[in-house]
Amino acid sequence: MPSEASQTNSYSDLSLFRNWISSLGLIVAAGSLFSFFLLLVMDAMAAHSNPYVGILTYMVAPAFLVSGVVLFFVGAWWRRRQIFKATGVAPPLRIDFSVPKSRKAFLVLLTGGLLFLLLSAVGSYHTYHFTESVQFCGKACHTVMKPELVTYLHGPHARVSCAECHIGKGAGWFVKSKLSGTYQVYATAFNKYPRPIPTPIKNLRPAQETCEQCHWPEKFTGNLERTYDYFLSDETNTPFTVRMLMKVGGGDPTHGPVGGIHYHMNVANKIEYLASDEARQKIPWVRVTNPQGVVTEYRSPRFTNQVNEADVRRMDCIDCHNRPAHRYKTPNRAVNLAMSLGKIDSLLPSVKSNAVYALTITYTNETEALQGIATYMTQAYPNDPRIKSVISEVQTIYQRNFFPEMNAKWSDYPENIGHMEWPGCFRCHDGLHKTADGRKTIEANDCNSCHTIMAQGSGEDLLQLTPQGQPFKHPGDEVDGACNDCHTGAL
Ligand code: HEC
Ligand code: HEC
Ligand code: HEC
Ligand code: HEC
Ligand code: HEC
Ligand code: HEC
Repeated sequence: MPSEASQTNSYSDLSLFRNWISSLGLIVAAGSLFSFFLLLVMDAMAAHSNPYVGILTYMVAPAFLVSGVVLFFVGAWWRRRQIFKATGVAPPLRIDFSVPKSRKAFLVLLTGGLLFLLLSAVGSYHTYHFTESVQFCGKACHTVMKPELVTYLHGPHARVSCAECHIGKGAGWFVKSKLSGTYQVYATAFNKYPRPIPTPIKNLRPAQETCEQCHWPEKFTGNLERTYDYFLSDETNTPFTVRMLMKVGGGDPTHGPVGGIHYHMNVANKIEYLASDEARQKIPWVRVTNPQGVVTEYRSPRFTNQVNEADVRRMDCIDCHNRPAHRYKTPNRAVNLAMSLGKIDSLLPSVKSNAVYALTITYTNETEALQGIATYMTQAYPNDPRIKSVISEVQTIYQRNFFPEMNAKWSDYPENIGHMEWPGCFRCHDGLHKTADGRKTIEANDCNSCHTIMAQGSGEDLLQLTPQGQPFKHPGDEVDGACNDCHTGAL
């Protein structure tokens, strides 16, 4: 504390900072600065960066550093006010360069200030990168984001960062995402998030500004060949294959014919729709505006409601590709794939139906599930040495597609591409959406409009390729009705 004498005449410039608030601030600032450096070194030297170290280094330590500095000045301000109250004179806030002690103090402050500015520049750059990283988005709150992270890591976008699809470029969305992100950090910390995380995301950035940074519509190309390998659930696991050309089409007349499936994304067309449920699985109303500005409206039979323009959504990539990064395979698809790759031995009798069954039992947590799968499969094939590898494959399928802690699995996340397990394209292309005069339905609703089946069946059948396409021969009996009425994931 300054002496009585010095208080009445001239104040040493630093005396204002000699109070307990400023001292506390100084200690906090110095401590966090030290921790920042220590953590920085730890983060740089670790082989795999750890999201928690990241949070401490780039968010917690800087926050403490800043509050320390703030406290340091608040203390001085408080002290000045106190002196003013006691003496009626406010000590001047000036630096007297003729006093050597002040000169020294000024130099120390200046160097400290510059160092602080430099650090905060480096710090905020790192903080920015860190909060955009897959580490932060996917791993920091590991149970919450585990389903999204695991499915993402096994998807086609495993090296595209979360932020490239969920935030994209530009300051506006950056700020928006940090605001909602702050709420998410809070929700995670206080265990207030829904399980499973709901979909669709209401305020997802328009796909033009994210997906199209990498997949621009002019680039889309004609037909894509797809081969689907299935195994039936009979005793011999009869293979059944469909090989087809998907008429994906393009969006640029100088690169090929415009049309096909990506017709919806042709920049000149505008397709809008109204969904009557949160999950966007029921679409009773569609409006098309063609390049000439001609508007056509289609309605499904019983839909007579007034359309509220605020609820109308313009179709973009996400209305078909809603699972580009987080795809939950159904038990049926996952087992078909593992069998076609030879990871599950298709010579084991009824292995298809048994493996699928083991995956459809409800388990409360992962440990129980892995145990349950092993028990069920061992009982189904006692004393068969081949079952060991089957068990571990079925367990792997479980770990990649089922997340009981978050209640997340295929049936919680509709997949809008195709029409097997979810209505998908048939939400609009069901042949029932008509114009008001009833004369026109949405085109493309027969089995050859979106794809042509080149070959199907098994063995010899697959050698007969028919470029003009063949009618689909459903395995077993002829069937009637929407595919997703029967194919719900276990079939
Ligand atoms: C290729 C783009 C892409 C990448 C990369 C990506 N996502 Fe997604 N994500 C999406 C799309 C598209 C949706 C579904 C949006 C919809 O239907 O509204 C989605 C949905 C989500 C959801 C909501 C729940 C759900 O599954 O629908 C969460 C949470 C999520 N993503 C987190 C992440 C995290 C964490 C990462 C990084 C580990 C990530 N995403 C990477 C595109 C992506
Ligand atoms: C940062 C670049 C980038 C962004 C952003 C991006 N993708 Fe991709 N996408 C890729 C790459 C790379 C591939 C893999 C290409 C390949 O396999 O030839 C890919 C593959 C795909 C495929 C083919 C998947 C398959 O199964 O083979 C689809 C469909 C796709 N992306 C859709 C989307 C959608 C929808 C979005 C927006 C939500 C999106 N992408 C955002 C880079 C990106
Ligand atoms: C009407 C539904 C629909 C819309 C809208 C749509 N796509 Fe597709 N897209 C498809 C289908 C169907 C395929 C065929 C591949 C398949 O079956 O997985 C495909 C294929 C692709 C592929 C993969 C090509 C390859 O070589 O594997 C990419 C990439 C892609 N789309 C990106 C996009 C992007 C980006 C947008 C938005 C600008 C978009 N799509 C809009 C339905 C759609
Ligand atoms: C929101 C409703 C909606 C959904 C969902 C939708 N479409 Fe369409 N689609 C349309 C409309 C509207 C047209 C324009 C046809 C017309 O006016 O008759 C169209 C046109 C098409 C065409 C014809 C393009 C041409 O060259 O004329 C194809 C092929 C097509 N869609 C495939 C698909 C596929 C595949 C999917 C699913 C992955 C799909 N659509 C999902 C509404 C939809
Ligand atoms: C509006 C366009 C459209 C129409 C109409 C259509 N399909 Fe498809 N179909 C698709 C798309 C898109 C996929 C690819 C889904 C994917 O990428 O996995 C597909 C996939 C399939 C598959 C592979 C199933 C799978 O997902 O494992 C079969 C089989 C099939 N279609 C049969 C048919 C039959 C039979 C009809 C007539 C009743 C039909 N399709 C009508 C768009 C269409
Ligand atoms: C009335 C119910 C029903 C309807 C509707 C139906 N299926 Fe099937 N589907 C079955 C049954 C039952 C099997 C035999 C399953 C087995 O033995 O594994 C089957 C098998 C299949 C398989 C091969 C097996 C597999 O692993 O998936 C394909 C592909 C298939 N259906 C496609 C379709 C398509 C595409 C549609 C719509 C055009 C459709 N199904 C409509 C009941 C149906």
